[in-house]
Amino acid sequence: MIVCRTKQEVFSLINESNRLNQALGLVPTMGSLHRGHLSLISEALQHNDIVWVTIFVNPTQFNNKEDLTNYPKNLENDLKLIKKISNSINVFHPSETEIYDGKPFLKKYDFNRLDLELEGKFRADHFNGVATIVAKLFKLFKPSNAYFGEKDYQQTQIINRLIDLEKIDLKVIICPTIREENGLALSSRNKLLSIKNKNKSSIIYKNLVFLQKSFNKNRNKLNLEKIKSEINFVDDFKIEYLEIVNNKSLQIELKFKENESYRAFICVNVNGVRLIDNILLN
Ligand code: PAF
Repeated sequence: MIVCRTKQEVFSLINESNRLNQALGLVPTMGSLHRGHLSLISEALQHNDIVWVTIFVNPTQFNNKEDLTNYPKNLENDLKLIKKISNSINVFHPSETEIYDGKPFLKKYDFNRLDLELEGKFRADHFNGVATIVAKLFKLFKPSNAYFGEKDYQQTQIINRLIDLEKIDLKVIICPTIREENGLALSSRNKLLSIKNKNKSSIIYKNLVFLQKSFNKNRNKLNLEKIKSEINFVDDFKIEYLEIVNNKSLQIELKFKENESYRAFICVNVNGVRLIDNILLN
């Protein structure tokens, strides 16, 4: 396993794989890896000649300083986990100055309102920050395929738009959400939950599945307010949003259309830890 800290080191290795016409799979992460990330890496290994994992906690996508400071980090363990999957994976772990060529900055994009919905209402400029760093990584690695989790579905749609805007030729592969046994979607932030709250978080996925069943029974008789009250009733749990939106535009529609797909999105703030999840309804 090769761990690079500079773009120059990456360039030299990538030039070699470009020369050999190898398919490059990129798995961008912020580290503190869990089974969700490992499933992305395994998927990338199956479909590419060479796989790069990037580990970088990107400051420009955090609108809250405390959130950035508290974000879990464990590079040593991350490298161990990656090595366990395969010794042939390359890792890029740049410093802020290295990846941003100096001080971190944010590029503003026009995402056709995709960035203003759901997470966007609670995290100003979050998606511009994600797009800024992801565009940098795409331009550096020029991957054939890039891997992201369905848990961050809104992020995947932003990235699809980003590659159109930046005219970057690659395939965005969305891999299924990996869950705890109780249904809680895996996230690096779960490490910040108490065991009691982690157990209680099963209520989130349970309600998403309930919503999916109810939607397919009678989509015009859904009671989101009842679900919100049930979750808000749990000690330490506070709903930030629960919305059903068009799967492509991510906009709420006044009336569900027969031939469109819809997805439910939820964010629950558990004692300061934001847990997000979503489910395709039809
Ligand atoms: O999903 C994440 O971990 C981050 O948003 C990403 C894509 C690595 C960009 O920093």
